[in-house]
Amino acid sequence: MLIKRPKDILSSEITDESVYLKRRQLLMMAGIAATGVFAGQSVVATEAVDSGRGRVLPAVKKSHYSTSQEPNSWSDVTSYNNYYEFGTGKEDPARNSKDFNPRPWSVAVKGACDKPGNYNYEDLVSPHVLEERIYRLRCVEAWSMVIPWVGIPLASIIKRFEPNSDAKYVRFKTLHDPVRMPGQRRRTLGWPYEEGLTIEEAMHPLTLMAVGLYGRELPNQNGAPMRLIVPWKYGFKSIKAIAQISFTKKRPRSSWERSIPEEYGFYANVNPSVSHPRWSQARERPIGAGVFAGKKPTLMFNGYADQVASLYTGLDLRKNY
Ligand code: MTE
Repeated sequence: MLIKRPKDILSSEITDESVYLKRRQLLMMAGIAATGVFAGQSVVATEAVDSGRGRVLPAVKKSHYSTSQEPNSWSDVTSYNNYYEFGTGKEDPARNSKDFNPRPWSVAVKGACDKPGNYNYEDLVSPHVLEERIYRLRCVEAWSMVIPWVGIPLASIIKRFEPNSDAKYVRFKTLHDPVRMPGQRRRTLGWPYEEGLTIEEAMHPLTLMAVGLYGRELPNQNGAPMRLIVPWKYGFKSIKAIAQISFTKKRPRSSWERSIPEEYGFYANVNPSVSHPRWSQARERPIGAGVFAGKKPTLMFNGYADQVASLYTGLDLRKNY
């Protein structure tokens, strides 16, 4: 879904490296290695970021929502990524996020709810039992994977914030920190990355707040420390490194919708009969299947129609793509 290739980006859109380095030096001298959005955030890492696999997550229970399909390998899932905050190439996120330390982390909860505030990662996660959910992921670019996520149903987290009757939508924002996320120094997208769901979609039992994969903490390139997974929607809805959750009355506009509204809509439900303006969505290329495996048909709602089609009764899915 690259909208501008690096050669299309005006040099005036890129922060000059010397300016950036000077800024970083100043921050280091001030004793703050990050311009975090969170007040009072300590920059002392609680644990070293391992370039290999992260810590094993405790007491993960299996979920009946998992597909019985064979998951992609660890290597497929962690080396072929979309994460523009760390570059636009598929191998960039793994390479460029090595030094990103996702701890400490907190999420600002705002808007139409009775329990707003800054919640730290541990407080958000520790009251919940972690579940393994093996889900299909279908990217709008027409490739797909099967990924064993570990997470918490988003509904269980959201309920704790007590959304009120004005909460018609939920808006998510990724951390905005061009020092720690170098891709944010280029205007490939309007930063921070933003996404949104209706409150019904957010509360749906399939919607997951993922904190891990393959039984381990989420690798940086997959959106550490926490990211959304909405398996019936194109992958761009599954926003990574969530730093803000807001409950809104008005429908939020996602980063991609804002960048190219004629190509990316709010709903972004996987739909093989609605082509992307530049390519068909009827088939997909399973990553890791080998060059001779060919493409396979894409399923309505990515195969989750039985569970989610009722969310869209009466909605014209051609107009509301
Ligand atoms: N979240 C943020 N913050 N930035 C991104 O560039 N890319 C999206 C989504 N979430 C993206 C993001 C896209 S296009 C896809 S397909 C999925 O993440 C890819 O998730 P994965 O790399 O873990 O497979």
